[in-house]
Amino acid sequence: MTPMSAATITPVSRLAGRLHVPGDKSISHRYALLAALAEGSTDIANYAPGADCRSTLACLRQLGVAIEHRPDDLVILLGRGLHGLCSPAASLDAGNSGTTMRLLSGVLAAQRFSSTIIGDASLSRRPMRRVMDPLEQMGARFESDGGRPPLTVHGAPLHAIAYRPSVPSAQVKSAVLLAGLYAEGRTSVTEPAQTRDHTEQALHAFGVDAPVDGLTISVAGGQRLTAQSLVVPGDFSSAAFWMVAAAALPGSRVEIVDVGLNPTRTTLIDVLRRFGARVTVHASATQSGEPRGTILVEGDRAEAIEIAPDEVPGLIDELPAIAALAAHGGEVRVRGAAELRVKESDRIAALVAGFRNLGIDADEQADGFTVQGRRTGTPSGGVADARGDHRMAMAFAIAALGAAQPSIIEGADAVGISYPTFFETLERLAS
Ligand code: S3P
Repeated sequence: MTPMSAATITPVSRLAGRLHVPGDKSISHRYALLAALAEGSTDIANYAPGADCRSTLACLRQLGVAIEHRPDDLVILLGRGLHGLCSPAASLDAGNSGTTMRLLSGVLAAQRFSSTIIGDASLSRRPMRRVMDPLEQMGARFESDGGRPPLTVHGAPLHAIAYRPSVPSAQVKSAVLLAGLYAEGRTSVTEPAQTRDHTEQALHAFGVDAPVDGLTISVAGGQRLTAQSLVVPGDFSSAAFWMVAAAALPGSRVEIVDVGLNPTRTTLIDVLRRFGARVTVHASATQSGEPRGTILVEGDRAEAIEIAPDEVPGLIDELPAIAALAAHGGEVRVRGAAELRVKESDRIAALVAGFRNLGIDADEQADGFTVQGRRTGTPSGGVADARGDHRMAMAFAIAALGAAQPSIIEGADAVGISYPTFFETLERLAS
């Protein structure tokens, strides 16, 4: 990836069209990891095409898993069973993917070998203590650079714990539950707030008994996973950029088909309705515990809205898109979102800097931001730096659509992490 690639965004008055978005990134990681631990051959259709989910496959190959990745996004993995992974010959490279590093740590914590997981410059700055702490309590041992990657995991026989993470994090929950598959006894995680439940749904899909009771999920060690045939729904967090663009540009009409509608991910729908958009949702089917369907967004009014701290876990990855909502009118205030500072970039600082460069009024707080796009008239447009963060590149592109002049997004190829065809789709919806 050349870090300095740039995209030019030409302003438009509205977007219209019907589209598919790429397969869900979170679900793809989980299906691949569990398929590796299952007995037999699992096929995963509509596997997320971005670099993050390829990193997970590359790590699994190094652990001895035979994988066929076809150009039509079908992935076939030959599972090695719970105890069949092999000691890797070199470091495992998670690239830009926090999900790969944190979830894989849970699996590696229980192996009979030691392994090292590395990442790119962005991932090497991200906090890993949140997974190291519970996995050490279970019996594993870690070496890190002051709680940051590279992460060396010394696997060990694990024992169950009852864990209460202090931050709501699906990655932490998932790492502990994956380790729990190997632990002696019943491991439980009680979350401070509901986070995405794809790991729970995926465990159930692979035949694991993992009961959920309110905010607590538990798993007994030693269960066998059975290979499956799975279809990944479209990624709601990728759809979010088109939903926001349609809501922010009055007169737009965008329909997204075959998209995931897991209720732990869809808080954005309420936010768009509060903003004044018409949002119509048709659920079509639930497969492997994951609901999916069609979302139609029609832009109308632009109200001032506030995102409350308790809404944040349900839209953590949509907050960059939500910032773009007020780029052309209305107002968005976000609080209780300090976690944004430890994502692929410091998303609060990156968002505010980029928006200001596009001529959009934005303010930074320790745990959030405020955007008032039209406070000083139509934004001028300008040059915004994605800082290597895929969601920043997409948020800036959507924010730039309603500007007076064309804008340039630097580092635009970061979209390859989750949405390689983003700019092609933008061109189609704008024409
Ligand atoms: C993810 C969980 C979230 C999210 C990330 C993907 C996952 O991170 O922001 O993009 O797939 O479990 P946290 O667990 O750090 O909140």
